Amino acid sequence: MTVTSSRTPEAVSIVRRDIRFEVDGHDVRTWHPDGLHVAHFFNALSLFFPEGERFFIESVRQFRDRVRSPQLRADVEAFIGQEATHGREHRRYNVALAESGLPAQELETGLRDELAKLRKLITPEDALAITIALEHFTAIMAHELLGDDRILAGTDPALAAIWRWHAIEETEHKAVAFDVYRETVGESGAAYRRRVRTMLATTLTFWMQVFRYHFHLVRADGAAMDLRGWWKLVRFLWINPGGMPRLIRAWLAYFRRDFHPWQRDDYGYVERWKATYAGAASARPA
Ligand SMILES: [Fe+2]
Ligand SMILES: [Fe+2]
Repeated sequence: MTVTSSRTPEAVSIVRRDIRFEVDGHDVRTWHPDGLHVAHFFNALSLFFPEGERFFIESVRQFRDRVRSPQLRADVEAFIGQEATHGREHRRYNVALAESGLPAQELETGLRDELAKLRKLITPEDALAITIALEHFTAIMAHELLGDDRILAGTDPALAAIWRWHAIEETEHKAVAFDVYRETVGESGAAYRRRVRTMLATTLTFWMQVFRYHFHLVRADGAAMDLRGWWKLVRFLWINPGGMPRLIRAWLAYFRRDFHPWQRDDYGYVERWKATYAGAASARPA
C-alpha cells in the first residue's frame, strides 16, 4: 500500500462526476446505527463542506496562472470541478439538516462570515497553506472511511453513498493543492516552515470548530447530557472502529520535510469504487 513517491502517480485521473444524491426524506438523525451523536459527527462535518470547499477553490485559483506544468493545470481545473460538486451536494445535505429542524443554516452562515474575515487577514500563501492542511485531513479521513467497512456499516445507503463518493474524489485529488503549493510557494525553507506552522494552527482551529458545531447539533436535539450517546461516539472514534489513532499517525506524516500525499498510495480504493458506483441505487446522473 505504501510506496515512496514524491509525486502524483500517472495512473491517477481526476474525474468530475456530476452526480446527485437523494437525501430528501432520509432521517438525518438515525442514519447511523451507532446513534445520534455519531450521526451528528458526520452531519457537523457536512456543514463545513460548502463554505470550506469554496475557500479551497478560491485559494487554489489565486495561484492557477503561476502553475507551469500542463498536467497540474488540468488537475487544478478538475479539482475545482470536484470541489464545486461536493459543495453543491453537501449543501443539499445541509438543507435536509435544516428542514429537520437543526440549526444548520445559522452554522453555515457563521462559517461563511468567519472565512470572509479570515481571508482579509491572511496572505494568498497562507490561504493555500490552510487549504493543503485541510486537504490532508480530508484525504486521511477518506482513507479511513474507504479502508474500514465498519465505519459505514449498517448506515442508510443514501447517506453512505454521498460519503463514499466524497471520500473517493478527495483521494483522487488529494495532491493537487499540495502540488500547486510546491510549485508556486516552494517546498523547503520558509515554504516548509509555513506549511507545518499552518498545519498546527489549522488542526487546532478545525477540530475546535468541529466540536463546536457537533455540540450545537446534539444540543439542538436535547441530547447534550446523554452520556451513553457521548460514550458511543468516543467508542466509535477511538476504539471500534477507532479511526482516530490511525488518523493521528497519518497526520504526523505531514511534518516530514519530504512529505507528499501520494507516499501513501490508496488509489486502489478509487479503482474498486469506480467498478461499482455506476450501479449505486441512490446516485443518478444530474
Ligand atoms: Fe471535497
Ligand atoms: Fe478536497
